[in-house]
Amino acid sequence: MNRIPYLSASAILLVLLSACSTPSGQPQKGSEPVAPNEVVDFGTLYAQNCAACHGAEGRGGASIALANPVYLAIVDQNAAHNVVANGVRGTSMPPFAQSAGGLLTDEQINVITSGVFSRWGRKGILDRTNPPSYAAKTAGDVARGEIAFGTYCASCHGSEGRGGSKASAISNDSFLALVSDQGLRTIVITGRPDLRAPDWRGNVPGKPMSDQEITDVVAWLSSRRVPSPGQPYSASNDAQLHDAEHHHSEQMEK
Ligand code: HEC
Ligand code: HEC
Repeated sequence: MNRIPYLSASAILLVLLSACSTPSGQPQKGSEPVAPNEVVDFGTLYAQNCAACHGAEGRGGASIALANPVYLAIVDQNAAHNVVANGVRGTSMPPFAQSAGGLLTDEQINVITSGVFSRWGRKGILDRTNPPSYAAKTAGDVARGEIAFGTYCASCHGSEGRGGSKASAISNDSFLALVSDQGLRTIVITGRPDLRAPDWRGNVPGKPMSDQEITDVVAWLSSRRVPSPGQPYSASNDAQLHDAEHHHSEQMEK
């Protein structure tokens, strides 16, 4: 019993001694926590906000690799900045700008976007190639897209995109419900090198896809979207779902 006061006395002594190591009890230099909106270190910002979906080192995540020099050579830096600030509606890519309901300052968004390009981009990587444009120039032709899919995609994703031995199903409504048309186009152009998905040049060796073929394939995939994805009994749920979606998008617009 009488060991307890002894123990606590030495504990107090220890605390006193360690407090003495910093003069007059001031916090050590650099030990003050930084307010979340004052973090401007790329690595920290990326790890806290992006890594969960785009992978720890910009690859290997559920969403596309950002550490893909082919992607960074094709996407316009302003377009990327805009996506980070405002998100992509209807997908899991959230808006980060405070003006769009996010938590990051404009400066932080600049640090992240320019950091992605300066760290992971490689200047000149697409020199002497004739890369497709980032955004589609036309609406695309669904029928031609189906043919292009057979030529360039079915060998891995299976006939009609129902899944094959080398790659997953991509024409099912649940997958298509979570990806935008630009998201599809980006994947077709840049591939997913971290998952061994080829870019627009590598689907059929020696036969790069034309810009138009890419646009058409996306049009075909997009034509497979349904209003109530994942609903086997869509007729009865349709009205309710549309109602819910309507309210939801009204809220998003506010
Ligand atoms: C919750 C998951 C999630 C988080 C967190 C996330 N992203 Fe995304 N991001 C996505 C998805 C999904 C897409 C594809 C959206 C689509 O279909 O167009 C995407 C798309 C993008 C694109 C555009 C790709 C294109 O097609 O050009 C950029 C750039 C991007 N994200 C950057 C970032 C950055 C930078 C961060 C961190 C500040 C971040 N993302 C955080 C899921 C996420
Ligand atoms: C050489 C095989 C191969 C070819 C050809 C190919 N892909 Fe892929 N693709 C993959 C692999 C591997 C993945 C990543 C793993 C997975 O989703 O199965 C992938 C992923 C994708 C994804 C993302 C799927 C997801 O779950 O995020 C899309 C979309 C896609 N491919 C579209 C296409 C389209 C469209 C074509 C034709 C223009 C095509 N791919 C041609 C192998 C291929």
